[in-house]
Amino acid sequence: MSLLKRIGGTDGVETSGTTTTSNGVNNNGTSNNGATLATTVTAPAESTPNRSGGLSRLRAEYNPAATHAAQVSKQDKVTYELKTRIQERLIADLEKKKIPVTDDKQVKNITEEIFQNILAEEPVPLSRVERQNLLNAILSEIMGFGPLDPLLRDDSITEIMVNSPKQVYIERKGKLVRADITFQNNEHVMRILERIVAPLGRRLDESSPMVDARLPDGSRVNAVIPPIALKGPSITIRKFSKKPLTIDDLIKFGTLNHKIADFLKGCVESRLNIVVSGGTGSGKTTLLNVLSNFIPDDERIVTVENAAELQLWKDHVVTLESRPPNVEGRGEISIRDLVINCLRMRPDRIVVGECRGGEALDMLQAMNTGHDGSLTTAHANSPKDTISRLETMCLMAGMDLPVRAIREQIASAVNLIVQQERMQDGSRKVVSISEVDGMEGDVIKMNEIFRFEQTGMDENNRVMGNLRPTGVQPRFLERFEKYNIFLPPDTFGSSNQLRPF
Ligand SMILES: Nc1ncnc2c1ncn2[C@@H]1O[C@H](COP(=O)(O)OP(=O)(O)OP(=O)(O)O)[C@@H](O)[C@H]1O
Ligand SMILES: [Mg+2]
Repeated sequence: MSLLKRIGGTDGVETSGTTTTSNGVNNNGTSNNGATLATTVTAPAESTPNRSGGLSRLRAEYNPAATHAAQVSKQDKVTYELKTRIQERLIADLEKKKIPVTDDKQVKNITEEIFQNILAEEPVPLSRVERQNLLNAILSEIMGFGPLDPLLRDDSITEIMVNSPKQVYIERKGKLVRADITFQNNEHVMRILERIVAPLGRRLDESSPMVDARLPDGSRVNAVIPPIALKGPSITIRKFSKKPLTIDDLIKFGTLNHKIADFLKGCVESRLNIVVSGGTGSGKTTLLNVLSNFIPDDERIVTVENAAELQLWKDHVVTLESRPPNVEGRGEISIRDLVINCLRMRPDRIVVGECRGGEALDMLQAMNTGHDGSLTTAHANSPKDTISRLETMCLMAGMDLPVRAIREQIASAVNLIVQQERMQDGSRKVVSISEVDGMEGDVIKMNEIFRFEQTGMDENNRVMGNLRPTGVQPRFLERFEKYNIFLPPDTFGSSNQLRPF
């Protein structure tokens, strides 16, 4: 990657500070259809608490007296020109001194030096706080992820979606809202994308326009660029939660209740094979993490994932991560390779982040051959759908097995399917828990043990309802006894507890 590319050339116009309201209009009332060098900001800082760390924001926050639009606009121009000059000098200096741009420490030092020198040479009307924030903005463009940085720092944001340079959405508390940051143009988004993928040795260009990557903090990134993405480069970031959700959090959020939590803990402790299923972003990985943390401390766990998202508070854990092919198309290590390999690693438990293809068959075989108590997730809309998905995934293994044989594998391997859903209010709930109960003829039999019954919406438009027992006692309860696990007698309710469908 060229140095110029990494630094962002001399066109690094600060646009992250362009304050944009949710309808895409700048605070100065103009439509947001291009790079604005002289952004006018007159709104007080409190009115836009989540603005990016850009220059206009700094000015609004730290120079409340500057209410005169023209004055602010002039200052913006000054800081923009200053920033451009610093970037030009920086490029020249780094090239002259042959400092590798990947050496973040040296790049940071030299940036600070040049910044101080330029400010010493010429009088720039900036307060101390403004100077510091300007330096931070420059460092963020050069060493960080530009306009994305403030969103990445904000722990209340769980997902970031860049649809186009001027249209960025975030998810906060389960709700999608428009973020008030913008990129200057497609090239600006591409520069930030290069900062993300280049250190991983990944390629992103016309011939390879889709990439999965990870940020240094573990956040999961997917990027698609033109010609596949028609509106410009598109980025989706699933933020890695520094503090993973615990079972207590899930109970607090209403995802499940205490009784269900105890039941699921019992299922994990008594080594049932469990599949957590749900749609995209329904909280499958989070629930898998919570369930995996119920595994007793003296058991050896091997985790297999595409991007290591699981965070287990356990000592005896081996974490494996698959690897995509390199630029020459070689060196791929698939989830399937890892599942097969982990059988040779003496696992007590195998936890597979997500089954998406042929690895499902290896996973089922492992579950059936002594590696019980294994856990995984699958993308499906109902427990029944999960079974069909598993069937399809097994067929993808290319072993040419008859469907009946695959069904038998599924029926004898999987004990429990926990269905999770992202509800219309943005909350995530366990909506069904079903036992897989062998075969009846050619069909896999399932018994639903708990089902979510929605009773309505409250005054804040939140989904109300309860996960209630259907009255069916799971057959695997005798296994609980073997492991000395006893649940309160009312856990499974009585047979007339639920209205029939
Ligand atoms: N029970 C929950 N309550 C509230 N938020 C949750 C819950 N479970 C997960 N989340 C949040 O929802 C987002 C998606 O969670 P998660 O990654 O577990 O979903 P997923 O189903 O595995 O998604 P994907 O299909 O993309 O792999 C995360 O930001 C997570 O913090
Ligand atoms: Mg997931």
